[in-house]
Amino acid sequence: MKGHAVAGPSLALIKYWGKRSTADNTPATGSLAVTLSGLESRTEVSFDDRDSVVVNGEEQPIDRFLPFLDGLKAGLDLENRGLAVKSTNNFPTAAGLASSSSGFAALAGAVAALAGSEAPPSKLSALARLGSGSATRPIYGGFTVFDAGALAAEPEQGESFWPDFRVVLCVVREGAKATSSRKGMESSRLTSPYYQPWVDSSPALLAEARNALSHRDWSRLGPLVRQSYLRMFGTMFSSEPPLIYWQPESLALIQTLEALRREGFTAYETMDAGPQVKVFCPAAQAVELVAELDRRVPGLRYLTAAPGPGLRTWRTPGEV
Ligand code: DP6
Repeated sequence: MKGHAVAGPSLALIKYWGKRSTADNTPATGSLAVTLSGLESRTEVSFDDRDSVVVNGEEQPIDRFLPFLDGLKAGLDLENRGLAVKSTNNFPTAAGLASSSSGFAALAGAVAALAGSEAPPSKLSALARLGSGSATRPIYGGFTVFDAGALAAEPEQGESFWPDFRVVLCVVREGAKATSSRKGMESSRLTSPYYQPWVDSSPALLAEARNALSHRDWSRLGPLVRQSYLRMFGTMFSSEPPLIYWQPESLALIQTLEALRREGFTAYETMDAGPQVKVFCPAAQAVELVAELDRRVPGLRYLTAAPGPGLRTWRTPGEV
């Protein structure tokens, strides 16, 4: 048999950065995220005599995956079975476009499908957490919340809740990042004097953003989105050694967006552990926004996405 799964990346409006428990991979800050359409991780898995993981045609060092695969096997009654995993992303991998969220969600789903498991989404979300905290979220479509200290994410608003909602992804660099989110957030937790204030101030930010989202209120949600990523970067910049994921074009985009807002655009950016800038805006402004960004910060690649579906899984007969 083969297990198959497809998942979209989960892009946070309000950020998870820092762990409450490194052993359980639970977050210190609650996050609010949107699962994206169009971008996807597609994974198939079959039984084999050893564990292997191939991403975009390249065999991966197995160490990063073994604890996760062992956790999946324990959770799905597959102990002592080897798993051959093949996964592809149709967007840049490990570059701060949330490929670990979709990748680990799809891997959890594919293994569950292979096992013939009827595990509910809450269990798949908790299993995906062992791979990556952000992978708990795209088990669900639309908007999701992964609360501080939680073991799984929860659906917040469905995929069709806000048809006017778009994300413009500005791809500044295509290569993989130098420091993973996992290492980066641990360094912030251990070394940044701003880490505790970041954690302490995050529940209010999350609560206000959930409320603004429930009213589809751009003018309230947008500034909260900006506060979340800029405070998160505050902890990164003040880590030892400092973590600077930004590139010159990242800052050029941030400043251009400030000018575009003054000119009447409804467009609010966020960033993750990488140089890419992601902009939330109404559907009717997306095309013009990309044209303006491209004119003022030329040479970048732009992708546009909407809220998308949650994890899809299925099982087929045959070998990988
Ligand atoms: C900046 O989920 O990749 O994208 O749980 O250690 O695997 P681990 O971290 P990960 O971190 C995501 C950090 C972020 C913000 C977010 O997606 O909420």
